[in-house]
Amino acid sequence: MERTFIAIKPDGVQRGLISEIVSRFERKGYKLVAIKLIVPSKEFAQKHYHDLKERPFFNGLCDFLSSGPVLAMVWEGEGVIKYGRKLIGATDPQKSEPGTIRGDFAVVVGRNIIHGSDGPETAKDEIALWFEPKELVSYTSNAEKWIYGVN
Ligand code: GTP
Ligand code: MG
Repeated sequence: MERTFIAIKPDGVQRGLISEIVSRFERKGYKLVAIKLIVPSKEFAQKHYHDLKERPFFNGLCDFLSSGPVLAMVWEGEGVIKYGRKLIGATDPQKSEPGTIRGDFAVVVGRNIIHGSDGPETAKDEIALWFEPKELVSYTSNAEKWIYGVN
């Protein structure tokens, strides 16, 4: 089943939005398969955002991501990579729709509270960067037959 990497950035953690954000993924019907609170080093943040290294905001972005605790998670479900980005909303909170996480809780692009993988390849790479294989928990949730139906 498809998996994506989702992280609540230091601003989301400090603002007390962990339960709100986790709840949105949980209520949708996705399954949490890994979670940990971690303060990434700047070098780690640079690895995470390596594809943005030429952008003018790269240094500030990496300083910010490493400035405090980040809640790193892996969520599993059909179409979770793409739809997870829909739940999160547009990168710039000025453009995110109300009802999305960034639309409801963030105001500026540099403090947009949450990260989500943008495709299957990045999801695979980011999960491998943030988690050891043994930290990923495979299990069957009792709700699955109600979320997906039985064939
Ligand atoms: P992530 O889920 O965090 O990867 O965001 P995204 O995929 O919606 O956007 P992208 O990967 O292009 O950018 C990564 C992060 O860099 C964004 O979430 C923003 O926090 C930050 N960022 C992107 N564009 C800008 C910008 O123009 N200015 C500033 N200050 N930060 C930006
Ligand atoms: Mg991105």
